[in-house]
Amino acid sequence: METIIRKVSEDGMGKEALKEAAEILRRGGLVAFPTETVYGLGANALDPEASARIYAAKGRPSDNPLIVHIAEIGEVERLAAKITPAARVLMEKFWPGPMTLLFPKRDCIPDGTTGGLDTVGVRMPSHPVARELILAAGIPVAAPSANASGKPSPTRAEHVAEDMLGKIDMILDGGSVGIGVESTVIDVTSDTPVICRPGFISLKMLQSLFPQASMDPACREKPRADLKPRAPGMKYRHYAPKAGMTIVEGEAGQVQAYIQRMVREEEERGGRAGVICSQESRKAYSSGVVKCAGSRLSPETIAHNLFGVLRDFDHEPVTKIYSESFWEGEMGEAVMNRLIKAAGYSVVDLTAQNGERL
Ligand code: TXA
Ligand code: MG
Repeated sequence: METIIRKVSEDGMGKEALKEAAEILRRGGLVAFPTETVYGLGANALDPEASARIYAAKGRPSDNPLIVHIAEIGEVERLAAKITPAARVLMEKFWPGPMTLLFPKRDCIPDGTTGGLDTVGVRMPSHPVARELILAAGIPVAAPSANASGKPSPTRAEHVAEDMLGKIDMILDGGSVGIGVESTVIDVTSDTPVICRPGFISLKMLQSLFPQASMDPACREKPRADLKPRAPGMKYRHYAPKAGMTIVEGEAGQVQAYIQRMVREEEERGGRAGVICSQESRKAYSSGVVKCAGSRLSPETIAHNLFGVLRDFDHEPVTKIYSESFWEGEMGEAVMNRLIKAAGYSVVDLTAQNGERL
């Protein structure tokens, strides 16, 4: 299949491309498009064959449900069988924006879209290209992140092309996305909201509205038989660069010295190590392939660059990657959730010895 790539912009460039893309969606095809979080891979959410094409293009396990995207708040009534008062408060406050809400689903949504679950995740994105595409298509659009299953989510059209060229009908290239990590997934099927995947909307923000709100404990720990995540996608290995990765936690100087030593040891073994660090500690590393994720003083830059940095390492001849940890800011939990998964839960904690956390 030939994949058409068309440029679009927030100020209206590519209107024709948007119409073409909407037509592709209506006839059951696949279109990748920018959202404010990451690029999505869209299909008609009401057509089980279209959803099946998404799973095939991504190589995605069929039990991992898709998020259904809408352009107007009222559309949620057509998809959700029950909307609690708490859900209405959240919709009012955070839509359009980087938040997915889980509702009991109506019958119009095929099981093939929800991985057989009787709930559906709904999101109303704020990115103008995403909204215009959904409006023009006139249908709810199922869209997971537009990466091959297991790889970091795409934050630029080039990342989508890396994984999806020849497998989907069209890529709408709207440049680099704003936030860089996926939406917060919140279960609102009961009166107390529960975060199933951390994102831009943090637990603190949620608790300022609902003090009882909580985070699914499986977001913070390695999945095991007795700790099943509420979001099926959280149990899979994800975001992983090709080279194995280890995260190092601890006091700044201690972390830098440890990583430097590990880089040297990797080189002595005939390998080559990569380092992911902050702008503030860039100068501390004199060997290895060093990539800066962003500044700790503006943690949103780290969220914005993280997936791109992980992907860049796939184009470097590195045999091992060491990363500093990045807990600061409202999105710290979301960033570390992705980074820890990318590392396959390999974390060295130097604080056990002494000093404070970086
Ligand atoms: O920001 C985002 O959410 C992006 C953009 C494109 O909107 N989409 C995205 O989709 O990240 P995806 O498929 O890569 O991740 C969706 C996550 C998965 O962990 C999935 O298991 C969970 O949401 N999810 C979706 N529907 C669910 C449901 N009904 N119940 C539990 N978890 C659900
Ligand atoms: Mg994904």
